[in-house]
Amino acid sequence: MQDFIYYAPTKVLFGRGAELRTGELVREAGGRRVLIHYGGGSAVRSGLIARVERSLDEAGIEHISLGGVVPNPRVGKVREGIELCRREGVDFLLAVGGGSVIDSAKAIAYGVPYGGDVWDFYAGRAKAVKALPVGAVPTIPAAGSEMSNSSVITDEATGLKRGYGNDISRCRFAAMNPELTFTLPPYQTACGAVDIMMHTFERYFGTEADMPLTDSMAEALLRTVIESAPKVLEHPDDYLHRAQIMWAGALSHNGLTGCGNSGDWATHKLEHELSGMFDVAHGAGLAALWGSWARYVMHRDAGRFARLAVNVMGVDATGTQEQIAEEGIAAVERFFRSLGMPVSISELIGRRPTDAEIAEMADKCSDGDSHTVGGLLRLGRAEMEKIYRMAE
Ligand code: NZQ
Ligand code: ZN
Repeated sequence: MQDFIYYAPTKVLFGRGAELRTGELVREAGGRRVLIHYGGGSAVRSGLIARVERSLDEAGIEHISLGGVVPNPRVGKVREGIELCRREGVDFLLAVGGGSVIDSAKAIAYGVPYGGDVWDFYAGRAKAVKALPVGAVPTIPAAGSEMSNSSVITDEATGLKRGYGNDISRCRFAAMNPELTFTLPPYQTACGAVDIMMHTFERYFGTEADMPLTDSMAEALLRTVIESAPKVLEHPDDYLHRAQIMWAGALSHNGLTGCGNSGDWATHKLEHELSGMFDVAHGAGLAALWGSWARYVMHRDAGRFARLAVNVMGVDATGTQEQIAEEGIAAVERFFRSLGMPVSISELIGRRPTDAEIAEMADKCSDGDSHTVGGLLRLGRAEMEKIYRMAE
């Protein structure tokens, strides 16, 4: 077991009508002039933006808005937001939408008080020391950005998708109403379920994994998502199960399931190159890669994969550790498929990736063969290429 710091400062308001209290929450967090940031329109169509605006009006808080954030959010939109906030004297960012919107808001928050270009943080050239406060009204349980310290932005000029983590960007509050997720299309619901599971897997597999309480919580979280995801695909307005998934999404990425464990994160790093290159949904990209990653690294700790197989996937605990582990990986892939998710890159993008595309992803992921990713097994450029090929 490793020493750890658990820092989860986000105030969570969970339940029906939570968004109606955004005005009060912004005021409590010291905001006076707010930028409401949103995506491609789902939050406008559902009437959510209007409800949030009303809540801000009632609390006497001024607001302007900026929509148009796309999945795999772009740095161009972030720069536009930074300019707008400076011009309008905005002092609080309110993200209304999915992980892409929250991430874009976090990036704007870093950029407003910064003298250089915001991409510096994502390129690893600078560390943010100041950020505007951010609050969130999440509409899709997936990225967990509402409680995480990270944001992931794509530079549309280069296709580079990079994450940046810093506690100063953690949301001051998250107003989480499961009813807001009733309108999610099945594909996005499934992508979200995969991402939530993956945030848990990434922490579950690592070099040090001897933390029984954390492991048990992770397993319970995974079992919950596995039980609830099919239910909401069948009945999109099942409040109880939407709520389970929404809460799981926040807990899967606020550090709770990583307390005492070291983590891996290779699948996420490999996936960011996929969604950077092909502009696919992050959760689907993870589903396409995970099985290949798991088979490639399994020998490092077959016992742990076997534990996942038995405790989460319901695999019969007979046979060697390796056999049980293999069955567990296959069971996870079957589950992803049952949600309509791809389990290979071909299924994800509709064709085989070319050799040149695989080489470029491995190059980018290893930063020109200069760094490794992963915890359970450190992966250099050659190993990354092998995994992309296994996932072809
Ligand atoms: O843009 P709108 O019209 O709102 O449509 C969105 C979007 O097309 C739609 N949607 C969201 N809520 C909806 C809805 N449609 C109907 N009803 C609703 N209630 O769903 C689509 C996807 O939205 P997006 O925000 O892109 O999804 P998600 O939350 O999965 O975020 C994905 C992004 O987060 C990053 C990913 O890499 C990706 O860029 N991640 C961020 C992390 C973090 N900040 O901690 C960690 C993750 O590992 C991840 O990398
Ligand atoms: Zn993720």
